[in-house]
Amino acid sequence: MAAEQDLMGKLMSLCKRRGFIFQSSEIYGGIGGFWDYGPLGVELKRNIKDAWWRDMVTGHDDTTVSAGAPTTYEMVGLDASIIMHPQVWKAVGHYDLFHDMLVDCRTCKSRFRADHVSTSECPRKPSKHPGEHHECDLTEPREFNLMFKTHVGALFDPASEAYLRPETAQGIFVNFKNILDTTRVKLPFGIAQIGKSFRNEITPRNYTFRSREFEQMEIEFFCLPDASRDWYTYWRDLRFAWYTSLGLQSDKLRLRDHGPEELSHYSCGTADIEYAFPFLECGEFGELEGVAHRGDFDLRSHMEGKLVRQGDGFVLELDADGNPRYPGSGKDLRYFDPQTRERFIPHVIEPSAGADRATLAFLCEAYAEDEAPDDKGKLQSRVVMKFHPRLAPVKVAVFPLVKRERMPDIAQDIYRELKRRWNVIYDENGSIGRRYRRQDESGTPYCITVDSQTLEDQTVTVRDRDTLEQIRVATKELMNFFDEKLNM
Ligand code: GAP
Repeated sequence: MAAEQDLMGKLMSLCKRRGFIFQSSEIYGGIGGFWDYGPLGVELKRNIKDAWWRDMVTGHDDTTVSAGAPTTYEMVGLDASIIMHPQVWKAVGHYDLFHDMLVDCRTCKSRFRADHVSTSECPRKPSKHPGEHHECDLTEPREFNLMFKTHVGALFDPASEAYLRPETAQGIFVNFKNILDTTRVKLPFGIAQIGKSFRNEITPRNYTFRSREFEQMEIEFFCLPDASRDWYTYWRDLRFAWYTSLGLQSDKLRLRDHGPEELSHYSCGTADIEYAFPFLECGEFGELEGVAHRGDFDLRSHMEGKLVRQGDGFVLELDADGNPRYPGSGKDLRYFDPQTRERFIPHVIEPSAGADRATLAFLCEAYAEDEAPDDKGKLQSRVVMKFHPRLAPVKVAVFPLVKRERMPDIAQDIYRELKRRWNVIYDENGSIGRRYRRQDESGTPYCITVDSQTLEDQTVTVRDRDTLEQIRVATKELMNFFDEKLNM
């Protein structure tokens, strides 16, 4: 465990040093639960989001049945607003139910999640758990809504209250009818969205793992109720395989089914894809993504109003006068099947991934220490980020061996040519060994060096980050070479 904690410390320091992740507003002392992605971090996270979008949405072939899928299906995208009509959150239950239980200390004014008291630290010294110092005076657990509240317009009254969305999913459900009306999608089909979500987490922690502002990559997959179990299995397997295809080791990943007591208020079946993050105790896993069977809960809530569980199903929640407690939109969100001529509410499978948690998992997985020869051929220890080539922030670095004899000109020509296609950098500063080390820490899969042999035979050295193998490649072949190697 100490070694794993140490790894987390080293990774965080590399992320700061190389410009992957910074604390938000750092010059003012930071603000808990908010993070900024630096020049390398923004490329890494963008590559993860692009890979997700490409693999799940635009690259999906809807003319053939993909492995494990019960039938073919279509995928379309959406980008909905962060602030939505407040009734959305009332109808769908977040206004009432999206909360944590909190314990306050009346003496030191600290706040703890009720279920984390036994693992949290009291700010008083010597360090103890909350409640263990004789001055501690803890309240009973109290409810705390996790949605950030704001006001829309000039007046700060209850009528202008609105919320920053705590999930991107509802933007998809409220646009269900728009998408049916404007595209030719037929069941089964999925609507995908990537965007920011906000939760006023009580104890943001473990670096970016639990943040107050984060990005989600969510799919709401609409299907026939009878086929929903098969689609649930399909999405669990597909999403698990996506992480391993981009380099997460399958023995550090697991699929865990939620027990009945753990299910969200809407869910009739959920499995988490979890990763053995190094900040966790040995044998523990942290959630990367949830795949939930949401039944018809969301569309029905937006039609009728807030639902409550009754037996195996849901019924409309009524107020004392017998009216819906929080009415829905009243719009007909049923699907019309042109073949059977029936109208019904489809069932939904939701694979909901966190872009920041995925970024953190890929960072943890990539971190490695080994040895590489320096300029004199002597083995030196190095830190290397072994990102999958699709995710690597920079794909190729181009160096002139020395700053003379036309080498910088040739190297810059190569840089400009490759840059048309990939994120490539040019570096002529420091010894070659130092330049390699910088790129190893950035996770750049390939480095090109223009040397004196280039002037004679128009070949360059290409060094592989992981194997350290160096081969000669003709400059005119570089485009094809990287096309194949980077597997785009
Ligand atoms: N629409 C369903 C939903 O939002 P969730 O399990 O609450 O489900 C889905 O969130 C994913 O969003 C999580 O698996 C995680 O990757 C990410 N996520 C949730 N809360 C987060 C937080 N506070 N910080 C970073 N990522 C978070």
